[in-house]
Amino acid sequence: MTNVSSKRLVALGADHAGFQLKDALKADLADGGYDVLDLGTSGPDSVDYPDFGRAVAEAVASGRADLGVVVCGTGIGISIAANRNPGVRAALCHSGLEARLAREHNDANVLALGSRIIGLEAARDALHAFLNTEFAGGRHAGRVAKLSTH
Ligand code: RB5
Repeated sequence: MTNVSSKRLVALGADHAGFQLKDALKADLADGGYDVLDLGTSGPDSVDYPDFGRAVAEAVASGRADLGVVVCGTGIGISIAANRNPGVRAALCHSGLEARLAREHNDANVLALGSRIIGLEAARDALHAFLNTEFAGGRHAGRVAKLSTH
């Protein structure tokens, strides 16, 4: 996973259902030259996904991290948690196409993945697309701005 993006620091978070996928992607990111901020969890003991979605959201919204990746069993709970932060646009993706469009059209800044739904290669495709696609702006800019006005 080559770092061809200007986005350098990626915050990662997962619950007990997602930590293995999170750790696999963390290794890929490190191999690709990205800086990684791993906010846990790091083992199979049961934890609560809102805590990790919130931690990644705060890192991204504060500017401590450029982008975030959150993983739980379905990706649903942790994406809901991340999206509670008004500075976050978390997108639950199952493919590279969705991740590319989430960046191009929605300026998504957090990628959410479901470890019990997709396999490692699909997750890698999504992450690669997410990291290497820029927001297209143009007609999408006003729509994305409206996300922050409600
Ligand atoms: C944990 O069992 C599971 O509920 C969680 O990982 C996630 O899928 C919630 O949305």
